[in-house]
Amino acid sequence: MAGLTITGLTVEYSSGGYTARPLDGFDAHIAPGALALLLGPSGCGKTTLLSCVAGILSPTSGSIRTGDIEVTTLSGAALTEYRRRHVGVVFQAFNLIPSLDATENVMVPLRAAGISRKAARARAVDLLGQVDLAHRIDHRPGALSGGQQQRVAIARALALDPPLVLADEPTAHLDYIQVEGVLRILRRLADGGRTIAISTHDERLLPLADQVVELAPRGRPPARPPELLDVAAGETVFRQGSRAELIFVIEDGEIEIVRELDHGGEEPIVRLVAGQHFGEIGPLFGLARSATARARTDARLLAYTAAAFGDAVGPQRLAEVIRGAGVPVSGGAPRIDAPSTGGAGSP
Ligand SMILES: Nc1ncnc2c1ncn2[C@@H]1O[C@H](COP(=O)(O)OP(=O)(O)OP(=O)(O)O)[C@@H](O)[C@H]1O
Ligand SMILES: [Mg+2]
Repeated sequence: MAGLTITGLTVEYSSGGYTARPLDGFDAHIAPGALALLLGPSGCGKTTLLSCVAGILSPTSGSIRTGDIEVTTLSGAALTEYRRRHVGVVFQAFNLIPSLDATENVMVPLRAAGISRKAARARAVDLLGQVDLAHRIDHRPGALSGGQQQRVAIARALALDPPLVLADEPTAHLDYIQVEGVLRILRRLADGGRTIAISTHDERLLPLADQVVELAPRGRPPARPPELLDVAAGETVFRQGSRAELIFVIEDGEIEIVRELDHGGEEPIVRLVAGQHFGEIGPLFGLARSATARARTDARLLAYTAAAFGDAVGPQRLAEVIRGAGVPVSGGAPRIDAPSTGGAGSP
């Protein structure tokens, strides 16, 4: 049985001229034979992660190991073989071929692997039986419900009996009756000794899992007292696209906020000095950092959790910070004693 070990996985996209980094040093281990839920809200990188594991997307850096295969180094015939034999993928949109009936859809990967038409058909019919579709084998996708189409997609992913199955939001577009059928089938798959990774934002699926991997922290971290942080000139405080945890108030020194561009360059947004704060919006709203913060000089910062920052500045000031956030402040905001200070361009 093959497990799945992901280490330091980073994916960068360029979108609208800026760099997005939905996965930034992501680590996870899924035990062999486990059914793992990859849980996280829309946009947190679930499809990106599964695409990397499926060998469809090359990450910017990091490692993905399953059994004795290092997925990120595969290419050519070895990559084709991996995609075909080792990993079965059920996509968010089922990607069934509309002109083929259920059996023919499941036969596609079998035929591509060189299996005879007769053997492929027998295997497809057997698989459709396993996903409770024996009575629908000759229906085209258009004549099947969402749950039934999802089950055809699952049967197709299992065609070559891969040890690793990935399902991207398998219950996203289904009503609760259909969800129940799909859940049972996914659970049965794992009980057959395969390793299964299912991405979802739906916490109702939690009881299904042997293991839960959270892609984004849930809820707000509790208020804790602010901590002093010393950074050296040139050091990065946080990086654009990374997960946002803390809000910073400058005690001493200078911080620059820059936006990273696609092709390696960057665009200055604002320079901040003692008494000003930065990085409010990400932690307050659970968003990724929209810019990079770096020390221009040696600097001393006070780092607040979102809750502690809210307590420190009070609701009215917090509302002002949010209204003003994201707007570059030319020449910096007014200096007042921390933390009830002027805000700044606020990633
Ligand atoms: N090809 C791309 N180019 C640029 N940005 C992308 C690309 N694909 C995804 N992204 C961005 O990367 C982030 C993660 O996207 P991803 O599709 O992996 O999220 P997700 O967790 O699957 O979301 P959902 O639950 O909505 O399916 C998003 O902010 C998305 O806008
Ligand atoms: Mg997705």
